Amino acid sequence: MESSAFIQIRDLRKTFIMGKQKVNALAGVDLDIQKGSFTVIMGPSGSGKSTLLYQLGGLDRCTSGSIKVQGLELQKMDENDLGVYRRKMVGFIFQSFNLISSMTALQNVIFPMRFAGIAGGERHKRAVRLLQQVGLANRALHRPTELSGGQQQRVAVARSLVNNPPMILADEPTGNLDTSSGLSIMKLLSQLHLEGRTVVVVSHDLRMRQFASDTIYLLDGLVVSEAEYEAASHFEIPEEEPEENKI
Ligand SMILES: Nc1ncnc2c1ncn2[C@@H]1O[C@H](COP(=O)(O)OP(=O)(O)OP(=O)(O)O)[C@@H](O)[C@H]1O
Ligand SMILES: [Mg+2]
Repeated sequence: MESSAFIQIRDLRKTFIMGKQKVNALAGVDLDIQKGSFTVIMGPSGSGKSTLLYQLGGLDRCTSGSIKVQGLELQKMDENDLGVYRRKMVGFIFQSFNLISSMTALQNVIFPMRFAGIAGGERHKRAVRLLQQVGLANRALHRPTELSGGQQQRVAVARSLVNNPPMILADEPTGNLDTSSGLSIMKLLSQLHLEGRTVVVVSHDLRMRQFASDTIYLLDGLVVSEAEYEAASHFEIPEEEPEENKI
């Protein structure tokens, strides 16, 4: 039977060619993500996590295979449609916050609304409300350098919500944060999930799993089971050289 999942990924491949070298960053990913789920993607460095998230966010084109979101095939969209998809459907949060340093928190949140045909007064009201929602109403006029890492990431979360997207994609959102700021970002993402949004987070932080409804494991560009993932992680631990081989 045809899957009815919100996001359907089928045999997704992405190959990067760098001179003579070919890297199969995604080597045939099959994955269903249900509407309203909170999916955590785990995997070692280079396993294809960011590549997969960029594909989902319509930030890059695949080599072959398909991604359907609510029945719409991303690879069949032209640049214009893909732009509309990114604006309406996706809120993206990055590890390095990606705020514009010359703008205040408020201006950073207002910025993406300029391209969405929202009137000036409404933009301002919405941005203030979102900054309140992430607990930063009293930092609206601060620039990124005048905010802590956790606060900058909160601004980035507020910014991801301006167009009220049904889907939130976050690439290592707690990777640059201390333990407690990281936890507060996880709780914010969890709130967005409880509001009914579909949340997909790439994370190395094992605490993220406690908020997740699903955990996906990636190895060498493929989705694997938890058991395969665990076995591979044990394998990665370098073994002690046998005594007789030591010089
Ligand atoms: N733009 C690119 N050009 C060439 N190779 C790339 C590009 N982006 C990613 N790769 C390669 O694809 C593979 C997967 O990269 P990706 O960034 O998706 O890994 P990741 O799982 O997000 O790793 P990390 O945990 O370090 O962020 C890597 O081997 C990487 O070197
Ligand atoms: Mg990455």
